[in-house]
Amino acid sequence: MTIEATQSHALTPTAPAALASKASGQRGNSEVRAHSASEDARERADDTRPEPGSSARAGAVIHPAWVRVTHWVNVVAMVLMIGSGWEIYNASPLFPFVFPRGITLGGWLAGALLWHFAAMWLLVVNGLVYVVLGIVTGRFQRKLVPIRPGEVLADAKAALTGKLAHDDLSVYNAVQKLLYLGVILAGIVIVLSGIAIWKPVQLQELTALFGGYDAARYVHFLAMAAIVGFLVVHVVMALLVPKSLRAIITGR
Ligand code: HEM
Ligand code: HEM
Repeated sequence: MTIEATQSHALTPTAPAALASKASGQRGNSEVRAHSASEDARERADDTRPEPGSSARAGAVIHPAWVRVTHWVNVVAMVLMIGSGWEIYNASPLFPFVFPRGITLGGWLAGALLWHFAAMWLLVVNGLVYVVLGIVTGRFQRKLVPIRPGEVLADAKAALTGKLAHDDLSVYNAVQKLLYLGVILAGIVIVLSGIAIWKPVQLQELTALFGGYDAARYVHFLAMAAIVGFLVVHVVMALLVPKSLRAIITGR
């Protein structure tokens, strides 16, 4: 199935030689998937990204400082929340397994709860800064939407067959958009369900929204599982895609 074979812009003029060699053996560039015409139009509205072919492009900022700072603060907060959450879980498992002691945080239930309730402030304040700035700067709208099911399928297929272009790190493919938006939503669900099981008496309405205390615990756990699943794929991709890790650290 050719993907956007007729769209010559599917591969930008600045695509590196590495990509071209990856595409060799195929009919030209036609099967290397980049992004759609409408996405191109949106990207041109992004003033941090010069026109394709511009020499300034290589030095353009891919991730502004606020994205990088909130990203890495979130990594620290998430590791603390996941580690302590696993120790809390072990005190009263929902499923027939526990997490190995070596990868949990806090030592025992009370210690883990202290870690969980301390790191949650870091997680929530940092997350609010990221989400508010993401909305008001228009970054979310530029980078994370729209997500079209057809493009997700085509990009997932291209990714699995090694034909997905990663030449322009400032543009997210449809699978990335879906995963980033999904993990942001999972973050909102885990915070709300966490607050529901933290203050189930004072915030009965919120707890009831999740179907009661026990259901909220399951929601909280499943959101954790989704975030950890995302994290595994995300870190592998960050290590595999050249320069992506550098970009989220230095911005370029
Ligand atoms: C505002 C944010 C959060 C609040 C207020 C919160 C609150 C809580 C509370 C009160 C518990 C104890 C439930 C119980 O006693 O059974 C808990 C458990 C847990 N939390 Fe959080 N949490 C938050 C965020 C997170 C995050 C970000 C993660 C991981 C990504 C996480 C993972 C867990 C896990 C795995 C458990 C154990 C699940 C269980 O057995 O019930 N939490 N959380
Ligand atoms: C050691 C762990 C991590 C590494 C090495 C890492 C690496 C990266 C890299 C390289 C990017 C650049 C974007 C790209 O090219 O795709 C990125 C973006 C992103 N990461 Fe992570 N990440 C880590 C942990 C996390 C965690 C725990 C979360 C959330 C639960 C997360 C959520 C995101 C999101 C939402 C973006 C997109 C940000 C935006 O464009 O606004 N990452 N990460």
